[in-house]
Amino acid sequence: MGRLPFIAGNWKMNKTVREAVDLVRELKAAISGVKGVEVAVAPPFTALYAVHEELEGSPICLAAQNLFWEEKGAFTGEVSPVMLKEVGCLYIIIGHSERRQFFGETDETVNRRIKAALAQSLKVIFCIGETLKEREEGKTFSVMERQMEGGLKGLGDQEMRNIVIAYEPVWAIGTGKTATPEQAEEAHRFIRGKLERIYSREVSEGIRIQYGGSVTPENVKGLMNQPNIDGALVGGASLKAESFSKIVRFKEL
Ligand code: PGA
Repeated sequence: MGRLPFIAGNWKMNKTVREAVDLVRELKAAISGVKGVEVAVAPPFTALYAVHEELEGSPICLAAQNLFWEEKGAFTGEVSPVMLKEVGCLYIIIGHSERRQFFGETDETVNRRIKAALAQSLKVIFCIGETLKEREEGKTFSVMERQMEGGLKGLGDQEMRNIVIAYEPVWAIGTGKTATPEQAEEAHRFIRGKLERIYSREVSEGIRIQYGGSVTPENVKGLMNQPNIDGALVGGASLKAESFSKIVRFKEL
């Protein structure tokens, strides 16, 4: 069974509403006619609705960069799954390393967010990955194992159908230091093996695992050629239609 490649752009805290709409307009034109790849963009919350309107009729999916697990109430500054669904989101990025590093996200809160997203029929891009220190100390696999066990706790086979995993080594994010295709493949193989141990071979073979961390038009092909790399979560290079569309068109490179 082939897994449909999935390229997603994580815009992080970039783009005003006007800039966001301009970017997706350009992007729609730049990737029109591309087949055999799923594409998503994750603008900041403030631009989601406008981008959704601009994407009407386009195959590009809308994603948000986070959510809170409660449906509504006295949670100043938070955004709920229902709200994100209403503005047209299909995917939610959860557990990004920047959320873990700067905003106190833990495996437990990641798990609560994932469950809340799935309960609203939103799909999840669940991010995991080790820091440089952890890699140097030989803890890469044990860290990923902990993040997977904690983040996916209580999820059954059916729920796993709506999960995409993004392996993002923290040392490769925004640093220009991409993992080599071999390093990334080794981690992805580990993740798939772990999924097989927690769930089943069927579940593990069906799940898409994206690589994230300094993906560019120059390195995407080598990464996508690896058997267990099914896509990319792209930060910096997703902020321009020119570079992101080249990544989406990786098969033509
Ligand atoms: P980067 O970010 O491509 O700028 O390294 C990737 C990410 O954080 O998702």
